[in-house]
Amino acid sequence: MKFPSFLSASVARFSSGLLILVCASCTSVIPASPPHANAVSLPSPALTDTAWRNRALPPQERATALLNAMTTDEKLRIVMGFTDPVVLLVKGAGQIDAGVMAEVMQRQVPGSAGYVPGVDRLGIPGQSQTDASIGVRVYGLPRTALPSSLATAASFDPAVTTAGGVMIAREARQSGFNVFLAGGANLAREPRNGRNFEYAGEDPLLTGTMVSGLIRGIQSQHMVSTMKHFAVNDQESQRTTLDVRISPQAMHQSDLLAFEFILDWAKPGSVMCAYNRLNGDWACENDALLNGVLKSEWGFTGYVMSDWGAVHSVDKAVNSGLDQMTGFPCCGDGVPYFARPLKEALNKATVSAARLDDMVLRILRPLFESGAYDDPPVVGPIDFQASAQVAQSAAEQSLVLLKNQGGLLPLSGHQHIAVIGGHADQGVLSGGGSSGVTPVGGNAVMGIQPVFWPGPVVYLPSSPLRALRQSLPDSQVDYDDGDDVDRASQLASKSDVAIVFVTQWMTEGFDGSLSLSGKQDQLVASVARANPHTIVVVESGGAVAMPWLPQVPAVLAAFYPGARGGEAIARILSGAVNPSGHLPITFPIDDAQTARDIAGRHLPDNSLVSITYDEGAALGYKWFDLVGAKPLFAFGHGLSYTQFAYTNLAVQPQGEALRVSFQVRNTGSRAGAVVPQIYVAAQRAAGWESVKRLGAFSKVMLSPGEVQSVTLTVDRRLLAIYNESHHEWNITPGAYDVLLGAASDDIRLQARIDMPGAVFSAKH
Ligand code: BGC
Repeated sequence: MKFPSFLSASVARFSSGLLILVCASCTSVIPASPPHANAVSLPSPALTDTAWRNRALPPQERATALLNAMTTDEKLRIVMGFTDPVVLLVKGAGQIDAGVMAEVMQRQVPGSAGYVPGVDRLGIPGQSQTDASIGVRVYGLPRTALPSSLATAASFDPAVTTAGGVMIAREARQSGFNVFLAGGANLAREPRNGRNFEYAGEDPLLTGTMVSGLIRGIQSQHMVSTMKHFAVNDQESQRTTLDVRISPQAMHQSDLLAFEFILDWAKPGSVMCAYNRLNGDWACENDALLNGVLKSEWGFTGYVMSDWGAVHSVDKAVNSGLDQMTGFPCCGDGVPYFARPLKEALNKATVSAARLDDMVLRILRPLFESGAYDDPPVVGPIDFQASAQVAQSAAEQSLVLLKNQGGLLPLSGHQHIAVIGGHADQGVLSGGGSSGVTPVGGNAVMGIQPVFWPGPVVYLPSSPLRALRQSLPDSQVDYDDGDDVDRASQLASKSDVAIVFVTQWMTEGFDGSLSLSGKQDQLVASVARANPHTIVVVESGGAVAMPWLPQVPAVLAAFYPGARGGEAIARILSGAVNPSGHLPITFPIDDAQTARDIAGRHLPDNSLVSITYDEGAALGYKWFDLVGAKPLFAFGHGLSYTQFAYTNLAVQPQGEALRVSFQVRNTGSRAGAVVPQIYVAAQRAAGWESVKRLGAFSKVMLSPGEVQSVTLTVDRRLLAIYNESHHEWNITPGAYDVLLGAASDDIRLQARIDMPGAVFSAKH
């Protein structure tokens, strides 16, 4: 749990004026001298005409020139980052240079995630860091929230996450930030993981594609983005004490593959290492992971920053590949390892000067590459209307129609509609923890526990009820809050259609439950008994169990649908928008269908514990395929108000990869977007984790009757097995099935190809 939340909240509520007041009362810590009193010299005119300011030179050259101009103290400034200035005053006293403290007090955006001091003399900007993947997170400062990352992953269209990335990065720059702590890419290995809503699902290709889209959007706006949390931070239970055990092969074919794709396709400037240990070592001092896989094998040239409070040492962390300690003091942090202790390590030569140079170069280069150095953020007004349009469009392309028996949806011609529960008269739910955005218009439902970290529980003020009334002007739409099940059921029985909103609040720091809280299941079952035309809208962090499903003809998965979620829900239910989202995760029937039962519960103490992910790379649909179980809803599933047909599947080798082509036709009577999914299945390849893997997908918009030819490429790594001893990928010779489906459990066409086999290096 963050430390201490009440102080963070107090910083947020007050202006930076108060911070100066607090600072002034601490004269023993902060001297009256200017913030950069400890910089080695005053700005020199000669330094304005230097190689690193020359935009015509490549980033590497500019970064090297700048590095060469820095003193050791200046280098040390930019490898250590801070959070919450008020707590810093208490915890940093005597440990952090006063000039650095003063700079953090003055320049950190109050209530934001963090700040890394710059070097004014050389024009190195301070790094102003904001959370996270759905928008700018500053306590008390309203900003636009995209739908959750899991929701936008359901669009199966990276153009959606790119547009979102551009929008949130613009808001971030207009708020004074140049580093975005976005790019959550852990796989939904554990369906009850409290942070699944911050990630992009259970499949490496889908996650890699969607998070790459987001990061490309962010970095196009001259900001550095992270990808996080590296690696296998796939549950929140015991996240800061857990040792995750998983075989290197399984890791490379699952969690690491998602990150590898993102590095290839989006080139994030930074990677945030995670809280957990991985195969024995903390992720932020894990030589095999950071120096081995990330930097050596994948050739990552940016910097590794720590998660807040995830550093445990100086020498081991630095020498294992951590480049920047960020977020001090957070989460119980006692030691600012990369401040004075790092200087002492340099003096004792337990850390080399060359390694410090490497760390600094890695931090500087992305500042040039992204444009953050040349184009600093300018605080200014935000066009919230335009931002909200982006959020609405993302939701409209993402929400998943799970069930629509008898064509109950879209709604049409109903005189009386009952809307029940879920605070649908006020707004839509969002997730908790460090990614939560303060909504424009304020929290629509105040006071739900927890109101402090990892809360507050926030409802974005986009009322589905209001939007439905606007979308359906000829219907009478009545609301019941659902608190009294009998009363709500009576309203349902008098209506033509009942729409029940159910919610599942998930948050960083805790794993949750597949079961809906309170009386929600009872409410749905009772309303469905009262009215057979019942539609359920699920606002959730991830998968939920639906014991009432057989009695309910229509279900819409809205996830956390963002700043205009109410409008998006109404436009889908009313048919103004044809749904086109597909599930990025499998919905199990219940806990008994999951791979293990440990998560979802905190152990009684915070002792070091380990967990072995025996399922290895067989997560989600791969697990269900292997055990032969039928989930509630399968990965890739999603309905439309039209229908599609697939023909002419053909497959050819393309180097070591595969080229797959087919045709898809809209056979229904209205326009809609289809998501053809290509799965690959090796006939006999020891080391394949699963029956099939997602190999490629696309999203295609089709008018009624329209046919389109589609050609997709299956990345060669999705055909291969990772060989840990040789650091290479092997494609086993033999027959491979190529399956074309509308979902992982709905395969429509199949072709077979013989592959000659191949071996290629995992080194980039
Ligand atoms: C989270 C990170 C976040 C950081 C800064 C940590 O608790 O795990 O995702 O970026 O806090 O707020």
